[in-house]
Amino acid sequence: MNRPALSWPVDALRGALAPLLPGLVVEVAGQIDSTNSELMRRARAGRLPPTLLVAELQTAGRGRLGRGWQSGDGEPGGALAFSLALSLAPRDWSGLSLAVGLAVAESLHPDIRLKWPNDLWWQGRKLAGILVETSSGSAAAADATRTAIVGIGVNIAPLDGTGFATPPAWLQALLPGVDAPGALLRIAVPLVHALRAFEATGFAPLAERFAARDLLAGQPVQLSDGSQGVAEGVGPDGALRVRGATGLREVRSAEVSVRPAPPGAPG
Ligand code: BTN
Repeated sequence: MNRPALSWPVDALRGALAPLLPGLVVEVAGQIDSTNSELMRRARAGRLPPTLLVAELQTAGRGRLGRGWQSGDGEPGGALAFSLALSLAPRDWSGLSLAVGLAVAESLHPDIRLKWPNDLWWQGRKLAGILVETSSGSAAAADATRTAIVGIGVNIAPLDGTGFATPPAWLQALLPGVDAPGALLRIAVPLVHALRAFEATGFAPLAERFAARDLLAGQPVQLSDGSQGVAEGVGPDGALRVRGATGLREVRSAEVSVRPAPPGAPG
C-alpha cells in the first residue's frame, strides 16, 4: 500500500487544545503497541501531564472487554488511532464513554449511529471504537480526580474486512478525501469540550442527543450473558434499558456486551 506520508497538525492541535488543557503535550509515534497502554504506563509511573498521543501504527491495539483492536489495514494512514489523557473529577463517572462516542460521532457526520455503549456504526458496519480507562496514578488523589485515558480508533481508508469480527466501515466513504490527520483535527476540540461538559454535568443532559443516534433502540438484542430482549434506549446514567422475559433490566457497560439479535431469535 503506497499512501502519501502523513502530515500531523501538531502545532494546530496544541494551539487549539492548550487553552482547554493547560500544559498539553502532543506526540505522534510512528509505531507503538497501543496508545492507551503507553499512557496507562505513564500514569502508573506518575508522570502524565495532559497528553494527546497519536500512533501511525499500533502493534497491539486494545478494544473493550479485553479484545484486540486492529488498526485499519495495518498500514500507516489506514486508520486513526489516538489516546487523550486528562484529569477529570466528575461527580458521577457513569456514561463517560457514551459521552465520548457522541462527541466523536457528532464531530464526524450526521449519519453515524451509536451502538451502545460507544461504538460508531455506519450502514450496519463498525466505523470506530472507543476504549476509556482511568488511573488514579501513583500520588493517590485525595479528591475524586482521576486520570481518564480516552482511546479512539477510526477506520479511515477502505478495508476488505478480512480478519475483522464485525464488518468494518471506513470514514472516506462518508467524507471523501479525509485522512487520519484531518479526522483528528475534526474530533479533538469537540472531544475536549465534551469531556469538560461531562465533568460539569454528567451524561443526563446528553441522553436526548445519544437517543437521536441510538442504533439499538427498538431492536431485539442479544447480551453476552446469554439473555435477550428489546433495547429501549439509555437512561440518564447511560445504562442500556433492555426489556426481556423478566421485565425491564438496566445493563451497564462493564457487565456485558450487546449485539443486535440475528433475525428469528426469540425476543
Ligand atoms: C473497541 O471497539 O472495543 C474499542 C477500540 C479502541 C481502539 C483505540 S485505538 C487507540 C487506542 N489504543 C488502543 O489500544 N485502543 C484504543
